[in-house]
Amino acid sequence: MHKIKVWDGFIRSFHWLLVIAIATLYFSAEEGMMELHFVAGYFTLALLLTRLIWGVVGSQTAKLSALLHSPIAALKSFKQTDNKPGHGAAGSYMVLAFFALLLTQLVSGLMTTDDILTDGPLVQYVSSQVVEWAGWVHHKNFDLLFYAIILHVAAIIIYRIKGKKLVKAMVSGYAEQSVTNSDAKLTKSPWLAVVIFVLLLAGLMMTWGAEPLSYLFS
Ligand code: HEM
Ligand code: HEM
Repeated sequence: MHKIKVWDGFIRSFHWLLVIAIATLYFSAEEGMMELHFVAGYFTLALLLTRLIWGVVGSQTAKLSALLHSPIAALKSFKQTDNKPGHGAAGSYMVLAFFALLLTQLVSGLMTTDDILTDGPLVQYVSSQVVEWAGWVHHKNFDLLFYAIILHVAAIIIYRIKGKKLVKAMVSGYAEQSVTNSDAKLTKSPWLAVVIFVLLLAGLMMTWGAEPLSYLFS
């Protein structure tokens, strides 16, 4: 067994910040704290957009192209857990599903209103039918996201029972691998991702986020 670095610093930060952001989004919506909900929403949008860009320019294990597997490969990966670095074939479907669910949740949120005081920033540009539909999508899609999270955590627990310590790797970045991936380095320095994230976050907070932020800090 060889200990190799599989997840770069950005992927790990992305993952655990996403968990905190989704918990914040859920509780702020439940408590009617819409300003916090919006700010956490823009934070999540910047995080996800950076992850998608990093999926093109980033580390080998972060590449979106590395997430594409045939359904047959995914079915096979349930039987024999291969030990290749990065997401397995079945896990890749889960990751792609998360990206689609998160994008749907974010875009629908931008067009959703609470019918009291707060409108998403795109509400003014679309018809009332679209706003109504987006609100419906925002509610229903969250249920799907919730079930996906339960399934995701259940899968991680099952892999742990089978002896694969995936959480440890998502925390430290390192995993035990039986195959060495030649001499190729799997991870890149996360600095470019950090710069992209900070720029996107600053842009979103100075525009759509300015009003809810000033309310939160007044
Ligand atoms: C809000 C809840 C969660 C969401 C939305 C979520 C989402 C994701 C996403 C999108 C990835 C892919 C990472 C990437 O390539 O960018 C991932 C991977 C992973 N997540 Fe989560 N996650 C959640 C909660 C958790 C929790 C609570 C745990 C720990 C028990 C966990 C453990 C992992 C691990 C170990 C991986 C790497 C899997 C692998 O090796 O293929 N996740 N998660
Ligand atoms: C991944 C990101 C997001 C998650 C997980 C999320 C989650 C939620 C949840 C669980 C609710 C309560 C729905 C219900 O009562 O059934 C909600 C409501 C709401 N969200 Fe989000 N949201 C996200 C992003 C956004 C964004 C970016 C905006 C707008 C900037 C937004 C605007 C709203 C509004 C206006 C409501 C109130 C709807 C109502 O009162 O009927 N959300 N969100």
